[in-house]
Amino acid sequence: MDNRSIGFFDSGLGGLTCIPYLTAALPEERIIYFGDTARTPYGSKATSTIRNFSMQIADFLVQNDVKMIVIACNTVSSICLEDLQFRFPEIPVVGIIAPAAEKVAASCGNENRVGIIGTKVTIRSEAYNRLIRELKPELEVYSEPCPAFVPLIEEGIIRNDIMDMTIRYYLDDFVLENRLDTLVLGCTHYPLIRDRIERFYPDLRIINPSEEIICSIQQILTERSMLAIHSERENIFYASDLSENFMNMIETIFSSQEMKVQFKNLDIENTRK
Ligand code: DGL
Repeated sequence: MDNRSIGFFDSGLGGLTCIPYLTAALPEERIIYFGDTARTPYGSKATSTIRNFSMQIADFLVQNDVKMIVIACNTVSSICLEDLQFRFPEIPVVGIIAPAAEKVAASCGNENRVGIIGTKVTIRSEAYNRLIRELKPELEVYSEPCPAFVPLIEEGIIRNDIMDMTIRYYLDDFVLENRLDTLVLGCTHYPLIRDRIERFYPDLRIINPSEEIICSIQQILTERSMLAIHSERENIFYASDLSENFMNMIETIFSSQEMKVQFKNLDIENTRK
C-alpha cells in the first residue's frame, strides 16, 4: 500500500482528460496535477526546450513526494520518456504512447487503416509509428500534425465554427485520401474535441490514449503493491498560469464527480532548486 499521490503533468489542461478514467478505475488514488499553462503549447517548440520544461516539472512533482510520474502529454512522452526514467530511477515514470500503441496493435487487423494525429513534435518523432511497427509490422499507419488544435482548446474555442473548420482543414483529406477507419487522438487535448470529430467522421473508430494509459498505471501500481487505500489526501491542481480556462475545464471535466480539489498557481521557473 502507498497512499502518496500520483503526479500527472502536461503542457496545459490536456492531461486532465486522463483523470476521469483514473478515478473511475482507481477511486482510492489521489493526484497532484501540473499544467504548464504559462508556456503551452509545447508541440511546436524545440526538443531541448520541452526537455528542460519537463525536467523542471518532474523535479517539482518529486519534491512533492509523488509515488509515480505520469506523463499525460504525448509530446513529452515522444521525446523525453527515457530521460525522465533515467533521472528518477526510484519511482515509476509512465509515458502515454506505449499503452495506446499496444491498444492499436491488439485491436487492429492488418486490413485496418490507422491514422495518428498529434502535435508537430509528436508526429515528427514517429514514436507511435515505431512502436506500432514493432508490434504489428504489416499494419498501415498514417500520421498528420494538427498544431492549431491545442491553442484553440486552451482558449476554450471548442464548440463552435472555428473549431469545426479547423477539424475539417486538418482531417478531411487525411481521413478520405488514406481511407482511414481508425483514428488515434495522439494528444491529450484532443479528447476535448472528440465529439466534434465524430460528428464529421462518424464511421471512424477512435482510440483515446488518455483512457489507455490507465491500464498501465493500474498494472504498475498493482505489481509493486503501491495501490492507495483510504487516502486522506486531496487532489491538487497546479498551473503555471492559473487561468479561468484551466479552472473552468476542471469544473467541466469533473462536473459529474465528487472531487475535493485545490487550485494553486505556481511559478515553476522560480521553484527549481
Ligand atoms: N497535451 C499535449 C500532448 O499530448 C499537448 C502538447 C502541446 O502543448 O502542444 O501532446
